[in-house]
Amino acid sequence: MTDRTLTEADLRLLAAAGGAAPSLHNSQPWRFRPATDRRGLLVYADESRAVPVADPDGRALHVSVGAALYNLRVAASHLGWSADVRLCPEPEEPELLAALDFTEAGPAESPELYGAIAQRHSSREPFANRDVPEAVLGVLIQAAAAENTQLAVLEEAEARRVMSLTAEAESRIAADVVRQAETRAWLRLEAPATDGIPAEALGPLDHDARVPMRSFSGRPPSPARPTQRFEALPQLALISTHGDRPVDWLRAGQALERVWLLATLHGVRASVLHQAVEWPETRWRLRDTAEGPGHVQMIVRLGYGPPGSPTPRRAVDEILDLSGTGSHAGGEG
Ligand SMILES: Cc1cc2nc3c(=O)[nH]c(=O)nc-3n(C[C@H](O)[C@H](O)[C@H](O)COP(=O)(O)O)c2cc1C
Repeated sequence: MTDRTLTEADLRLLAAAGGAAPSLHNSQPWRFRPATDRRGLLVYADESRAVPVADPDGRALHVSVGAALYNLRVAASHLGWSADVRLCPEPEEPELLAALDFTEAGPAESPELYGAIAQRHSSREPFANRDVPEAVLGVLIQAAAAENTQLAVLEEAEARRVMSLTAEAESRIAADVVRQAETRAWLRLEAPATDGIPAEALGPLDHDARVPMRSFSGRPPSPARPTQRFEALPQLALISTHGDRPVDWLRAGQALERVWLLATLHGVRASVLHQAVEWPETRWRLRDTAEGPGHVQMIVRLGYGPPGSPTPRRAVDEILDLSGTGSHAGGEG
């Protein structure tokens, strides 16, 4: 063990990687701060960036921060550190969602994953009618399992059932003016921004109204959006956890990003269909009773197609707090 500590350049690289993670409506609800000894990083929720109507319990916020956490682990590995992660380490400080303690035990993640962080985008475009090979799906299933979650790739009947629940949830969202206003508030159709969803990233709606892509600006969308024919049967995968507490949500987020980065390395695109997870009734019905009592956290659509457009991110100075240093104690890993 040496006395090596995190330099400002290391911290900036880590924060940029964490900040590149996917998040609900690109809300980026995270803040990072170095630990007192500069051999660790503290990860906080930024509640000012919550999406309270769609996500009243902060479940999606935790999933988003979990995704950032996985990117931090990959970036730490890129810097030659191994990260020991403690989730929700201080019960009396609920905004502190994770503490990473770095050791020089050697890189823990595959080196090529770091490059995938910048290549990964949501692709809301139609995919080809081509299945992701079993071998690649197997890699993704293992990756989710390594994060204590389950990735279930759906057969046709289950995929159709999940699409129908998603369409039902999408209709509920379209009929709810308060939720519509909240979603619209994250659209960035004109001015350049540092968060939210720009027009280029929106993608078309399905011409045949079979694949229930989220319409971020209502149904029918306003302004109108083009339609295109989507793949005949989307390849859908569910990420589930045994429990449904903040630590489980953080695990689901880490699994989401681990799966998504690996998919990116294999040339597989992904987008999220989260609508049915946002309503308790449809979320409950998403559960596959044959698979046991799992809690569905994410629905991911996988396939082959355009890579998707980059979305903006806040500057590192806004998400990395170098003003002081944080302390941290024991917690639940
Ligand atoms: C918890 C969560 C829920 C999301 N829900 C949706 C969704 O319902 N529809 C969608 O198109 N994208 C969804 N996304 C993807 C985000 O919109 C996307 O990550 C964000 O806009 C940043 O873009 P990027 O993934 O290209 O970096 C979700 C992402 C997360 C983490």
